[in-house]
Amino acid sequence: MKVLVCGGAGYIGSHTCVALIEQGHEVVIYDNLCHGSISAVDHIRQLSGASVRFVEGDIRDRESLEAVLATGFDAVMHFAALKIMSESCRFPLLYFDNNVAGTITLLQAMQATGVQRLVFSSSAAVYGDPDVVPISEDAPLRACNPYSHSKLVMEQLIEEVCDARPSFSATILRYFNPAGAHPSGLMGEDPCGVPTNLMPYVSQVAAGLQERLHVFGGDYPTRDGTGVRDYIHVMDLADAHAKALQLLRHGGCHVLNLGTGRGYSVLEVVSAFEHVSGCRVPYEIVDRRPGDVAEVWADPSRAEKALGWRAQHDLVRMCADAWRWQSMHPHGYQSAQVIELRQVVPSTGLR
Ligand SMILES: NC(=O)c1ccc[n+]([C@@H]2O[C@H](COP(=O)([O-])OP(=O)(O)OC[C@H]3O[C@@H](n4cnc5c(N)ncnc54)[C@H](O)[C@@H]3O)[C@@H](O)[C@H]2O)c1
Repeated sequence: MKVLVCGGAGYIGSHTCVALIEQGHEVVIYDNLCHGSISAVDHIRQLSGASVRFVEGDIRDRESLEAVLATGFDAVMHFAALKIMSESCRFPLLYFDNNVAGTITLLQAMQATGVQRLVFSSSAAVYGDPDVVPISEDAPLRACNPYSHSKLVMEQLIEEVCDARPSFSATILRYFNPAGAHPSGLMGEDPCGVPTNLMPYVSQVAAGLQERLHVFGGDYPTRDGTGVRDYIHVMDLADAHAKALQLLRHGGCHVLNLGTGRGYSVLEVVSAFEHVSGCRVPYEIVDRRPGDVAEVWADPSRAEKALGWRAQHDLVRMCADAWRWQSMHPHGYQSAQVIELRQVVPSTGLR
């Protein structure tokens, strides 16, 4: 298929682009680079050996989107969103404008150009504080901050379009906690400032870039008092997206959890990371963060059945790949640019 990957210069989108190309699909990346990196696009080209087209554009720009989509696509993958919960509490309008208004514009542009298939990045955040774990797709939806509200509204918009237009099909993928990096160490998660996700935070502490890890809450009713989450390797997510494309051929709207079905506490992740990296990860237990919950892990059985997919990578592998990426790119893609520049300058004789 020919796939427009909105947000393809970001963390999960870039890994998915490589998986799609490896499986014989053609991708065009559409991204406004508000968080993604052009270096990620270069690494997609390098890893896949394909001359991937990149369009710098915003999903709220209907004219630009329609111009691209009018060149003919079989499907759209929609990763383009702002995703930091704490930031969304400070800037709710920004989050609704970017995420919800952006999705409306994307759906309008797809309708105008006759593109009928969509894979959408949702989040386990739509479940909020669950009554029971593991969480199935039928669990109550309790978004509790502007980011997760925006995801819920985007899901509802997509479902309404599917209901209204039988020719339109969508797969909504609710990710649990994406972690890890491409095994080459060339692509990975590149947060701005102090990371809000655990794995890059632990990586940066192990590398000495942050002094210590703040563990938010040590008094949860869990096995060691710290929060438990379902970490899933980004390569497993990428593989699930490639499989989700096939599901779109059957029509309808599918909602699927993407997780491993197993939860690890913060301290278990720290211990696995120390073991893999050989580095100490000093930490300090601080107050709980508002909105954080004790335990979240997925019931992934629906995705396993619908996609013939199951997560293959364990926590040790996630830590090992995250550490390789961190070691090769201490300052994210910015350091890759510095290294590339250093490689170029001597050969030109410039100083
Ligand atoms: N990483 C996680 O922990 C996580 C968990 C659950 C769900 N998700 C969802 O998965 C998707 C991808 O997340 P990620 O971790 O790769 O994030 P990311 O920030 O690395 O990637 C998002 C990409 O979208 C682009 N983008 C954002 N707004 C845009 C706009 N208006 N127009 C065009 N491009 C735009 C950014 O520049 C970036 O390249 C997001 O929708 C996110 O909400 C992520």
